Amino acid sequence: MLSSRIITNNSYRNNTIMILAEEQSNITDSSFHKMPMRNWWRRQYFHLRHLSPIWFVIVFICILFLIIIVPNPFSAQYSRSSINQDVQWKNIKEILEIKEQIFQNETLLNNVKVIRHGSNERQITSNILIVLYTTIFRDKKFCSFSIQRIFGKSCPSKHRCLWSCDHKKFREADALIFHAYDIPLYRTSMPSRSETKPNSVWILWSDEPPSIINYGLFNSYHFNWTISYKLNSEVSIATYGLFSQRDNLLSNNKYQQWTGKEFSNRINGALWFVSNCNAKKRLELFYNLKYSSKLLIEGYGRCVDNYPLHLCSSFSQCEHDYMSKFKFYLSFESNTCQDYITEKFYKAFYYGLIPIVYGPERSDYNRLAPKNSFIHIDDFDEDMNKLAMHLEEIHTNITLFSMYHEWRKNYEIIIDSKALERVRMCELCQRLINIRKGEMTYYDNIEKFYTDKCNYI
Ligand SMILES: *[C@@H]1O[C@H](CO)[C@@H](O)[C@H](O)[C@H]1NC(C)=O
Ligand SMILES: *[C@@H]1O[C@H](CO)[C@@H](O)[C@H](O)[C@H]1NC(C)=O
Ligand SMILES: *[C@@H]1O[C@H](CO)[C@@H](O)[C@H](O)[C@H]1NC(C)=O
Repeated sequence: MLSSRIITNNSYRNNTIMILAEEQSNITDSSFHKMPMRNWWRRQYFHLRHLSPIWFVIVFICILFLIIIVPNPFSAQYSRSSINQDVQWKNIKEILEIKEQIFQNETLLNNVKVIRHGSNERQITSNILIVLYTTIFRDKKFCSFSIQRIFGKSCPSKHRCLWSCDHKKFREADALIFHAYDIPLYRTSMPSRSETKPNSVWILWSDEPPSIINYGLFNSYHFNWTISYKLNSEVSIATYGLFSQRDNLLSNNKYQQWTGKEFSNRINGALWFVSNCNAKKRLELFYNLKYSSKLLIEGYGRCVDNYPLHLCSSFSQCEHDYMSKFKFYLSFESNTCQDYITEKFYKAFYYGLIPIVYGPERSDYNRLAPKNSFIHIDDFDEDMNKLAMHLEEIHTNITLFSMYHEWRKNYEIIIDSKALERVRMCELCQRLINIRKGEMTYYDNIEKFYTDKCNYI
């Protein structure tokens, strides 16, 4: 109260001084043609004088707020501070619908899971206790996190899901999570089914392909659900990245500005950062493409002989600088496992490049990415001459270039791991809430589930 009065008094005094100064200058000013303007200003000034100074402060704060908070649609993609955004659950309904189809198809022809459908009634009507039984890469994940930080603000049923990383609570748990990598490390042995609640859901979490984890070890546990990159896992969306629908479409104008700028700034062909040198086929493809293309095709990493040990750390300025000079990124996976599409793919989009993909089948990519957003090597029968010609066409024709980025009007790309984790945990929560009475699922052969269509390449 006191301080606001002081402000008013001060500004009142300033106002009077300013009016006096203006009247003085009026007397000495003889140029007549300036008078209408001056009168106009004086009228405006008179109106303003009657406004409380608090309004100026409010307007100032609002402008400041707009400048800081409202991000430019594309510059935001590169700023580290705003990528930890919460994904709106409603903005990912497309992928959830695709999963519904997959589950329906799965019931028809399925040989790894045992599935029995339940009634229409929900199994659990109260809260659901999720217990993390093992660690996740030796980390007791989400232990002291709030509900919002685990499941995300927009998660519809978040308040009904409780999280505990105290494994001693396994007897009360409605769902138990075991992380594949940590099971062999864990000091306490696995519980037995008879010790846990009769309807508890045992979940195996693993985002690694079978070349890294021996899934044969877990067959006998007959886990009920999996959390993985495979779309036929109960919990699978947002493992390595996610397309989320924009709340507001990007205008044609903004889009054209962006494509124009990117088309001319990205002067080089394709870029590849590679660290795993064991996958040989993709190295061969890389060199074939490099030698058949007129554009600059560059690889960085210890297996690409010209550039030993030259890798940027993730989300560094170095990475950003490289990624801004190329039109294409080689998002080559190390194997063909179904749906094993990693952050290499999403990162390319994030930095504004067109990914050239190799690994899983085109149909796997189609389920996760919008139309005309990427190039699959299979479309060119692995013929690098044909691919090189197509890249040159895109490189020189802005209409064609623009076609591959058209999706940006409708979608945003999410790669921040914390934001992705919240989406994943929300899918878990939503599915647990939805279990029907009498429903049953378990994996008869979890190894077969993970090794389906898997070849190391
Ligand atoms: C489900 O199966 C139908 C018929 O085989 C197929 O057309 C459709 O693409 C499948 N859906 C998914 C999401 O795999
Ligand atoms: C550029 O690509 C578009 C779309 O494929 C095509 O219609 C057009 O003729 C091309 N322009 C030139 C100059 O090649
Ligand atoms: C979980 O799997 C076991 C078999 O391992 C099965 O008896 C039980 O009914 C399953 N529970 C649910 C909720 O699917």
